[in-house]
Amino acid sequence: MHTPHTPHTPHWHFVKKRTADPAGGAVYVNDDGTRYRRTGGEALAAEAAYQRRLAELGYPVPRVLDEGTTGDGHVFVVEESLGERSLHDMALESLDGTRTLSDTVVDLAAEVGSRLLRAQAVHAVTADLQALRAWVQEAGWTDNVFAENPDLDTPRVQTALDRAVTQLAGVPLVRGHLDYGLPNVLPVGVIDWQHHGLVPLGYDTALALEIVPFKGGTKGYLASPEQRRRYLEALNKAARATTGQSLSQHLAPFLLVKALFFLALMHPIDPARTDKHLKWQYRRHLFMEVLEQYERTRAVDPARFLTLDDFAARHGAPGHP
Ligand SMILES: Nc1ncnc2c1ncn2[C@@H]1O[C@H](COP(=O)(O)OP(=O)(O)O)[C@@H](O)[C@H]1O
Ligand SMILES: [Mg+2]
Repeated sequence: MHTPHTPHTPHWHFVKKRTADPAGGAVYVNDDGTRYRRTGGEALAAEAAYQRRLAELGYPVPRVLDEGTTGDGHVFVVEESLGERSLHDMALESLDGTRTLSDTVVDLAAEVGSRLLRAQAVHAVTADLQALRAWVQEAGWTDNVFAENPDLDTPRVQTALDRAVTQLAGVPLVRGHLDYGLPNVLPVGVIDWQHHGLVPLGYDTALALEIVPFKGGTKGYLASPEQRRRYLEALNKAARATTGQSLSQHLAPFLLVKALFFLALMHPIDPARTDKHLKWQYRRHLFMEVLEQYERTRAVDPARFLTLDDFAARHGAPGHP
């Protein structure tokens, strides 16, 4: 698979280590920014195979251009660049002293989200309860979350998760991203399919603006209620056109699983890291907040979340001003 007669050996510039990769993989970019190279283990090979399949099915994803094994036995994958800036980068650049997301970014997000949603809906895989339960476990990282937070492994939480599954019965399961958000969305497509798996239609795309507050208000921008409404309406339209169903009524069960996802891998090993401890406690708080809202009203509004700073102030967290 290695191209035999490359005119010159490309020089790869380190971009970042890959988050949540046990194989210690990293991302690199070539000199002119037209290609990205990832290194990793077996999971990276699976990710590349998944991405190739998505490309065949017409998903807006980077084409895989090269794939092989490095001298020291790691897997490497090269793909085309989808551009220089993610929608997250664009959102940060367009802040004008306020914290409101630019409408241009919202419209781009709606466009790419709708395109992905249509590709997902057209190639739906199944719609059964067993697959939905598997999605809760996989997308919510429940094995990890309950291992790190045994006090949350309760009948109360199980009841809420069962209710979420029941509520989503009949929703088509589609090839999903699991870590969908503005940092992985570019104007022409979606990158970083590390955590792929089957998801109920809408789980990835419908939450793109809803999940911003999970970062604690430290991301620099927030979507207004009107922007969230407009974004969701665009996705509802795409969903209705393909499946006949809207997505809005599924936001709460989606957010319950997402709150688990954001709590995964947060328990710091080093007790001296009070900053990490605070973030872990914050995500525990957000999960409980989502759970309570879901139980009480069947709806979840992330705009009502405490920010990380407010949470720290209320809990007099040590090591935080
Ligand atoms: N195909 C691509 N096109 C454009 N930018 C990319 C591409 N692949 C990676 N990048 C850039 O590299 C960054 C890290 O890659 P990513 O796979 O998202 O890593 P992580 O898993 O750590 O989030 C991205 O946020 C993006 O800026
Ligand atoms: Mg990423």
